[in-house]
This record gives sequence, structure tokens and C-alpha cells, in this order.
Amino acid sequence: MWEYTDKVKDHFFNPRNVGEIENPDGVGEVGSLACGDALKLTFKLDKNGRITDAKFKTFGCASAIATSSVLTEMIKGMTLEEAARVTNKDIADYLGGLPEQKMHCSVMGREALEAAIENYRTGGRKKHELEGRVVCTCFGVTEKEIERVIMDNDLTTVEQVTNYCKAGGGCGGCKGEIEKIIERIQGDRAKEQVMAMPIKGHKLTNIQKIQLIQQTINEQIRPALRADGGNIELIDVVGDKVIVAFRGMCAQCHLAEFTIKDVVEARLREFVSPELYVEEDKDSADQPHHHRG
Ligand code: FES
Repeated sequence: MWEYTDKVKDHFFNPRNVGEIENPDGVGEVGSLACGDALKLTFKLDKNGRITDAKFKTFGCASAIATSSVLTEMIKGMTLEEAARVTNKDIADYLGGLPEQKMHCSVMGREALEAAIENYRTGGRKKHELEGRVVCTCFGVTEKEIERVIMDNDLTTVEQVTNYCKAGGGCGGCKGEIEKIIERIQGDRAKEQVMAMPIKGHKLTNIQKIQLIQQTINEQIRPALRADGGNIELIDVVGDKVIVAFRGMCAQCHLAEFTIKDVVEARLREFVSPELYVEEDKDSADQPHHHRG
């Protein structure tokens, strides 16, 4: 048995707004009976452009019924701009959460809403179409959709992606590609976090500066060195001098010292402060690699 919140049960046993609006302003249909779930959402706008009524019809499980029901309640009174910003996470949160294996129902709700808004904006001409490249052919899930669920819900594993949008849940042939999409998005996120730190030029406190240097090393520099079998350690920060030690690579070679130090320095100047300069801590470097006297 799934663990459902009282709110999910309430909306399942007493679904609100079941049916179809006559002469709706927007219609969104997503899913297919072949996949086990289908949802049709219709809405009507008032003269101020706010959603005054919304109804749904679904063929799906308890969670699909509960999410569709709660979605129609949530969007009443919203403008289309507001409704377009509703994420599947908002819908699940509104229900007090959903079992992870059922999160795809909340995604279906958000997709139906998007499709209905698009239908309205294109004057009723456009039906929902898959946009972008299809990654999972078993369930017809596009790259864009996979990116969206990863970003909106901060997903980190292929299994989660399958729970959220079904991609990967059939033959499994697309799992490698889903993995790559997760890596790419999580990598971009790490970069954004570094960028969101206090911007260079602003006066950083010493602690902020050291944290930012450490973070830049961890996220921007170490992965690249690791790829070449090396590593870097932050030893100390004294004023604008950043003392580091290189490990597991030919750190003492003249050429290596020159290029690696330069790369590290350039990165730190870019992300932390243009005044920084890097010095290598010779004492703590790997002794076996010591070529120069
Ligand atoms: S292609 Fe995605 S599960 Fe088969």
C-alpha cells in the first residue's frame, strides 16, 4: 500500500471539479491510455484574464485523480502567467507530498496545464506536441521534459527521473542518456552556485574569501586535475596569496608547475578576486615526484 497524506485521500475520495467545461478557453490533453494515465484539463477565463473555472477528466490511479483535483483548485483565481509558473513540485507540496513512485502524476498535471495554456495562447489551434528530441522512446519523453523534472525537483538519480516522468522505466535503453543529462544539469548548478557567491570586487570577509577559494577549487579545479590523475589541496590563504599543494602528478616539473599554477590562478581570479596569486607549498608536495633539486 502506498503511504498517502490525508489531503491526497480527501481529493481522491472527493475529487473536485470533475468533468469538462463547455466552450472552454483552454484545453490540455496529455498522457495516453496506452501508458496507463491520461488527463484532460479545461479552463475558462474571466474578463480580467484570471482562471475562473477549471475541470479535469482523468484515467489514472488515486494520485492522478488527487493531483488533477488539487490542481484545478490551485489555479482558480490565477492569471495565466501565474499558472504557467506552477511546477509539479508545487502540486505535490500542496497535497502534503506524494510517494516518490507517484510523482509522475504531479508532472502529468503540470504538463496538462501547460498544454491548456498553450492551447489558449494559440487560439485553440495548437494541441500538445512533444517538443525537442525524444530520449525515451518507450514513453515518448523528450530531453526538455527530463531536464525540466531534474531542475524543478533537484533530482540526482536515473531512478528518480523514472519516478517523475517514466523515462527509463521501459526497456531501459535510455538510462545512459538520462544519466548524462543529470550530470550536465547538476554540473551547471554547481557552477551557478559558485557564481551566486559574493561577486568579485565586492569586499569579501576573510572567511567568505577562503570559503569561495575552497569552493572554486572543489568545483572548478579539482575535477579537471582528477581527470589527469592529479589532485590539489588548499594549504593556506595569507592576504592575497593562496598556498596550494599539488598531489599525485608531476607537480615539481618546471612545465607542470608553470601551467597548473597558471590555470589555478586564472580560475581563482575569475571566480574570487583578481588580486589573488598562487604559490605552491613545496614542503607538502609529493616527494616521489620531486625531479628538481
Ligand atoms: S527508451 Fe526509455 S525505457 Fe525504453
